[in-house]
This record gives sequence, structure tokens and C-alpha cells, in this order.
Amino acid sequence: MNQEKLFVGPGARLRARAWTRGLAPSGRVILVSESGVWRRFGSGVQRALKGAGLHVLTHLLPSGEAAKSWDSIEPLLTAMLEGGLGRDAALIALGGGSVTDAAGFAAAVFLRGIPWVSIPTTMLGQLDSGLGGKTGINLAGGKNLAGAFHRPAAVVCDGDVLKTLPPRERVSGLGEALKYGLAFEAKLWSLMVRDWDKLAAGDARLTAEIVRRGASWKRKIVAQDLYETKGPRELLNFGHTLGHALESAAGLGVLRHGEAVIWGMRAALRLSVKRAGLSPANALEADRFLAGIPVPVPRRLDPHRLVAETKRDKKVRAGAVRFILLRAVGRPVVKPVPEAEILAVAQELLS
Ligand SMILES: NC(=O)c1ccc[n+]([C@@H]2O[C@H](COP(=O)([O-])OP(=O)(O)OC[C@H]3O[C@@H](n4cnc5c(N)ncnc54)[C@H](O)[C@@H]3O)[C@@H](O)[C@H]2O)c1
Ligand SMILES: [Zn+2]
Repeated sequence: MNQEKLFVGPGARLRARAWTRGLAPSGRVILVSESGVWRRFGSGVQRALKGAGLHVLTHLLPSGEAAKSWDSIEPLLTAMLEGGLGRDAALIALGGGSVTDAAGFAAAVFLRGIPWVSIPTTMLGQLDSGLGGKTGINLAGGKNLAGAFHRPAAVVCDGDVLKTLPPRERVSGLGEALKYGLAFEAKLWSLMVRDWDKLAAGDARLTAEIVRRGASWKRKIVAQDLYETKGPRELLNFGHTLGHALESAAGLGVLRHGEAVIWGMRAALRLSVKRAGLSPANALEADRFLAGIPVPVPRRLDPHRLVAETKRDKKVRAGAVRFILLRAVGRPVVKPVPEAEILAVAQELLS
């Protein structure tokens, strides 16, 4: 599958003629969003699409994790069918990861797949969930358990939309960016630690730089291993094994994705000292920094439940839970970790 085209820069979302070129031969598209994002950016993007000569249907999904369910996909697929969309039409997803995951999944399954464009409006979306073609919904048994690899034809990352992000969503995006630093690029990690206050306050120039670097790591790695079968893509899951488990166990939508990843990275740092030779001093320094970021503390969670959730992780092979650990900052490695050690770390973090 070809790499998605990337359109970056302030105002990119409004340059629809560029990112819809060759997308939908029928000239018909469906613009999918949710109410919070629609209120701010919906009509602008809709006008831009019309200005590019397209016939535009619109559809709103429920906000947050509720978008990622069969109950919200079915009405979307029905709207696409009743709106007369064929394989020569396209879907445009405008929103955070919940919208792009769910709408991308609808694009993957409608008539066995139509092209789509992702316009991520959260920082997390611009450097992670809006890129790479993993689409999907949640099942009662856990997050992201049904889905498809379906890469967008184009990804549109507009820095302007990040200006209205609530502080918590900003921190969530920064959490994911810290992952790229710790796992792949020590320089990015140091830069983020040094300029943290400015990043947390929403400095536009620095934010754009972090998003650009995070997104290029993601694109580079996905290009090597689109279907997560060869190895490299698995490394993107640093901080995600326990992170996903926490996100599910806390209850859908309680912890933001990047907040859960911050907890997950703290667990992975501890395990890295034991299992991957990370120096205790480096682990402690990184952990102190992560511990200082204001994220909710998932209290009243049973550590045994967390361990059970990690076993549901799609990365489990032959019963052993595989963790991405660090030999050093920027040097990831995959290691199986015994259940008892995961439990000990979970107990320590949740106490
Ligand atoms: N597909 C992937 O590779 C991948 C990777 C990581 C995470 N995810 C998924 O992404 C989802 C989380 O996505 P998210 O963190 O982007 O959250 P989200 O989509 O739930 O959005 C969070 C909130 O931010 C608001 N919002 C969005 N953009 C805004 C803006 N520009 N200004 C003001 N408010 C805005 C929304 O209305 C919503 O209330 C999770 O379901 C997670 O599983 C997917
Ligand atoms: Zn993530």
C-alpha cells in the first residue's frame, strides 16, 4: 500500500483542493466528525470541500470513545449507503483519534473499502492516531479489538486547530510525543524535558516541531512494517502494554490515551532496569520527570485486573506478555516479562 500523502502547516485543513485531488472520481464525499470538533471547524472544512467542487454529505458520530462502537458505525454505514456513495466516493474524517479510528474503520468496511482522508484535530491524532492506517472500534472485552489496516490516502495536519485544545488533551498528546523521545530519539526527549513548560502552555512553534518529529518517526516505522508482522512497528508500543491495560481497566474515556501511556512508560522504565539493562540512574531521572506531569491517578484499580488486561494485548505471543523495554534512552528492545514482575510493578505504581 502506498504511503499516505502528508499535508502539514497552518490552515492546511482549508486547502481541500490539494488534499482531495484524485480522491473521489464521483465527486461525492462524506465528512464525518463529532459535535465538539464540528462546532469549531466543521463548517470551514465543509465550505473548503464544496469550494473544491465536491458534493458533501455530513455525519456526526457520538463524542469520545462512544464513537468507537458498532452502535455508531452502523448508522454511519447506513448514511453512506442512503447518500448514494459508491466505491468512487470518499470519506473525510475530521476529529481526534476517536473519530479517525471509527470513521477510518467505516471507510475500510463500506463496500469492502473506500478511500479516506484523515484530518486529525488533536495533538495525539497528528503524531499518532491519525497516521498509519490502524482503524477500529472497541468491543465489550477491551479497546481496539475489532478493526482493519486501512491507510488514509492523505493526512492533513493543521497546526491552527491545536490552539483550542484543552490542557488535558495537550498533555495527552505530549505524553505520546515523549514516547517517541524515550524510545527512539534521545535528543527529542531532552528537548521536551527542557522546554516542557512552554510545550504545556501550547507554544505553537515548539508544538509544530514536536508534532513534525513524532509524526516522522511514526511514518518511518510504519513504512517498514505496515501490518506489524516484521518487528519495527511493535516498537511504537513502548509504554502501551500497561498503558492500554490501564486505559481499559480504568473504564473507557476515564484516562486519556496519552495519560495512560505516561503511566505505561513509568512501568516500562522499571522493567527496563531489570530486564534490559537500562541504567537505574537514567530510569530514575526519566521516571521523576514523568511523575511530575499532572495526570489522574487511577486509584481503586486491582493490580491483578491490570495484569489480566495486559494478557489481552494483541502483542501476547505464546502466553508471554511482550514488553517494549529500553537498553538506553532511544534504544528499544522487545522482551517477554513474567506475570509476577508485571504484578509487582503494577502494585508499586498503583499504591
Ligand atoms: N489508530 C491508532 O493508531 C491510534 C493510536 C493512538 C490512539 N488511538 C485512539 O485514539 C483515541 C483517542 O484520541 P484523542 O486523544 O485524539 O481523543 P478524542 O478523539 O476522544 O478527542 C478528545 C476530545 O478533544 C476534543 N477535541 C478534538 N480536537 C479538538 C480541538 N482541536 N480543539 C478543542 N477540542 C478538541 C474532542 O471534542 C474530544 O472531546 C483512543 O480511542 C485511542 O485508542 C488510535
Ligand atoms: Zn499511543
